[in-house]
Amino acid sequence: MEQEKLQELELWFNNYVSGFYGSDEYINNNLKLKEEHSRRTCQEMRYLIKTLGLEDNLGKVALVTALLHDVGRFEQFVKYRTYNDFKSVNHCLLGVKVLRESKVLEDFDPAQRELIEKAVEYHGIKELPKGLNGQHLLLSQLIRDADKLDVLYVVTEYYARYKNNPEDLIFELEFPDLPECSSQVVKATLAGQRIDYSCLKTLNDMRLLQLAWVYDVNFTATLRRIRQRGFLEKIIEFLPKTGKILEVKKAIFEYVDNRIGGDSQKERLQI
Ligand SMILES: [Fe+2]
Repeated sequence: MEQEKLQELELWFNNYVSGFYGSDEYINNNLKLKEEHSRRTCQEMRYLIKTLGLEDNLGKVALVTALLHDVGRFEQFVKYRTYNDFKSVNHCLLGVKVLRESKVLEDFDPAQRELIEKAVEYHGIKELPKGLNGQHLLLSQLIRDADKLDVLYVVTEYYARYKNNPEDLIFELEFPDLPECSSQVVKATLAGQRIDYSCLKTLNDMRLLQLAWVYDVNFTATLRRIRQRGFLEKIIEFLPKTGKILEVKKAIFEYVDNRIGGDSQKERLQI
């Protein structure tokens, strides 16, 4: 893939997104959140490409995927005023629809286009389909990790801002800010399981789900970055200081540090 192709796509993305902004500040703020998230996800993807030693062409495909992975978010928010897929539409499938209708990937090699479309479709799915392999699997794993890295940045910033200024709610809070954590969610986190979005009842459940993402992280390089940037500590700080949460904290750190303990050079060679 040519370098110019990447730049063309960035221009297309800027132009596509700018068409959604209007006079509603609430909508604008939320759109900006995802616009900036898409660009920062590219930065996280650059980190993964470099750390894992991905070859140049696949690296470019991965960058295109990072830029476009949430392309369905803009139509979703303008239409439904929510990023909650359960209350609106599956934003991953909507993203694929946008890519096809806009024909933005039209002059890509069909195999590359399929690779990108599938990774966009799978980036938000609870678990990747079992038979996925080769570059399809690798690209899906990469976008899921890059996406999580930036979402963890976004939510930790957001929780701090919300704590200092609860009235200043410029973004949607999807769950009630109650002191409880649902026992089902705590149990799943302690058992090292991924948490189903449909089980969430409170904002603290959401925070637990974000902690439990570590179980779904594909690359040690991602876990190292999560650890270095202190995302886990920052999320735990907002959870109630109960015995159960202390257990969760211990389990999460043990899991991450065990995985990080492996040889990072080995990971590079496996790719
Ligand atoms: Fe997404």
